[in-house]
Amino acid sequence: VVNITSLYKDTGMFTYDPGFTSTASCESKITYIDGDEGILLHRGYPIEQLAEHGDFLETCYLLLYGELPTKAQKEDFDYRVTHHTMVHEQMNRFFTGFRRDAHPMAVMCGVVGAMSAFYHDSTDISDPHQRMVASLRMIAKMPTIAAMAYKYHVGQPFVYPKNELGYAANFLHMCFAVPCEEYKVNPVLARAMERIFILHADHEQNASTSTVRLAGSSGANPFACIAAGIACLWGPAHGGANEAALNMLDEIGSVDRIPEFIDRAKDKNDPFRLMGFGHRVYKNYDPRAKIMQKTCHEVLSELGIKDDPQLDIAMELERIALTDEYFIEKKLYPNIDFYSGITLKALGFPTTMFTVLFALARTVGWIAQWKEMIEDPKQKIGRPRQLYTGATQRDYVPIAKR
Ligand code: ACO
Repeated sequence: VVNITSLYKDTGMFTYDPGFTSTASCESKITYIDGDEGILLHRGYPIEQLAEHGDFLETCYLLLYGELPTKAQKEDFDYRVTHHTMVHEQMNRFFTGFRRDAHPMAVMCGVVGAMSAFYHDSTDISDPHQRMVASLRMIAKMPTIAAMAYKYHVGQPFVYPKNELGYAANFLHMCFAVPCEEYKVNPVLARAMERIFILHADHEQNASTSTVRLAGSSGANPFACIAAGIACLWGPAHGGANEAALNMLDEIGSVDRIPEFIDRAKDKNDPFRLMGFGHRVYKNYDPRAKIMQKTCHEVLSELGIKDDPQLDIAMELERIALTDEYFIEKKLYPNIDFYSGITLKALGFPTTMFTVLFALARTVGWIAQWKEMIEDPKQKIGRPRQLYTGATQRDYVPIAKR
């Protein structure tokens, strides 16, 4: 009989770190977070400045290539992304294979995974040109695919991209234009959408990005890796939290019921958590949440929404939680998902689309991180170890004798 513990004899020392709370899986030059101070930098630039002054494609360029583009570089990049916004016509039929009531994230997992079947001329990861084409294709086509998922979800015909529009405006157009009437994208809402995309563009080694890196470490093609990231993002502890946060505000229903839900969040026998609160890295206010709160007010004001019951509940919930001993002691602050749901709802999206929008924007971060990994000479296949706690060696028992 083999003594199982002796199996570890020759492996040297390794750490046991569930949830990777203190294990760095890679070196990266893309995004820096100081969770205690609430700082988020992309390639050294504060998120507040990028969200205030830049547009989403500029942030994409910065994440992918490490520097802000010159005017000529920006024009060239915009042109090349715009050139790829259409999806293969056969993809339309792929959508219609899903049940009408399918969750749009389920559709996204399938359709994005299928991109490697439609664009197999950009799946050779050893070729830098193919890697670049795959990156541009994904950034360009994700809004088209996300809008198609939305249109299929609500039973409307697909709307083709209108390439004279900016990235976010084009997305709003593909989502909300209908053949029977005139639709003009509101520039204030397009700017808000653009800012929401910038806020979600990258966030270093979060669960979905680590999933993309792990999938990519085996040499899998980039479309398959991004599909893996989308699947991971769907969970309510990650990108699904924006949908869950809005559902929670609905469940709370009125400001006077907030204390009841705060008590539930503190009760260790109740699985309920305040959705949109807390973060693995931020032990301070998530800087994205502040910008999102401001964007939320701007969108509601542009739409003439004076009283939004969900916003009232959210702001009062935040106020109470931030003065509550439990939340102070555990350093639980609103994260980006807390105000994004209210904003996206005001923009006209159903809750089921919230995580799709997150996936759309995070695609550039996933690609930048994937590209950095592929180009890193130290890159190895990701292969975590385990602490085996199962049965010791034993002999097979024929079924008649069990
Ligand atoms: N409500 C109530 N209590 C909470 C919350 C919350 N939202 N978040 C954490 N806690 C408590 C935990 O119960 C735990 O208490 P304990 O020490 O007494 O056991 C303590 O705070 C630490 O929580 P962990 O779950 O260990 O922290 P972790 O870093 O693993 O989790 C996470 C972070 C998943 C974000 C967590 O805060 C959470 O579930 N939040 C709600 C979901 C959410 O908003 N997710 C979005 C994250 S941001 C993003 O993906 C874009």
